[in-house]
Amino acid sequence: AIQRTLSIIKPDGVVKDLIGTIYSRFETAGLKIVAAKMLQLTTEQAEGFYAEHKGKPFYDGLIAFMTAGPVMVQVLEGENAIAANREIMGTTNPDEAARGTIRADFATATNRNICHGSDAPETASREIAFFFTDSEICPRREVV
Ligand code: CMP
Repeated sequence: AIQRTLSIIKPDGVVKDLIGTIYSRFETAGLKIVAAKMLQLTTEQAEGFYAEHKGKPFYDGLIAFMTAGPVMVQVLEGENAIAANREIMGTTNPDEAARGTIRADFATATNRNICHGSDAPETASREIAFFFTDSEICPRREVV
C-alpha cells in the first residue's frame, strides 16, 4: 500500500553535506519527497519528538545532538514507504547496517547515525503531524 513516513537528516548528515546524496537515494528507490523543511530544533522540539526515549541513558545526548545544528525534515511517500525508508537507512547501529545503506556508508555510531525514519504507521502519523500541517504536504500531480 502507498504510505507516508517521516524522515530526518540529522545534524551530522547536514554538516557532512549529504542532503543531496540522501535525497537521491530516496528518489532512486521510488520514494517521493512530498514535504520538506530545514529546521534548527529547539530543545523543547527535540524533547517533544523523542518523548518516548525520556529517561533512557542516551536521551540527554540525543537531545544535545539533535539540537547541535540544523536538520532536514521530510515526508516520503511511496509503496511501503515506512519499511522502504528503513531499508535504505540500514539498522540504527551502523556497524550492523547492510552494505550500501545510508548508515553503513556514512554513519559513525548509533548516536551519530545520520538519519531517522518512522518505525510504524502510528509513529509515522504522529511524527509527520509533529512537523507538518496537512497543507504543507504536496502530493504529486501530473504536469504537462
Ligand atoms: P532514531 O531513529 O532517531 O531514534 C532514537 C535515536 O537515539 C536513534 O535513532 C539513535 O540515533 C539514538 N541512540 C543513541 N543511543 C542509542 C541506543 N543505545 N539505542 C538506540 N538508539 C540510540
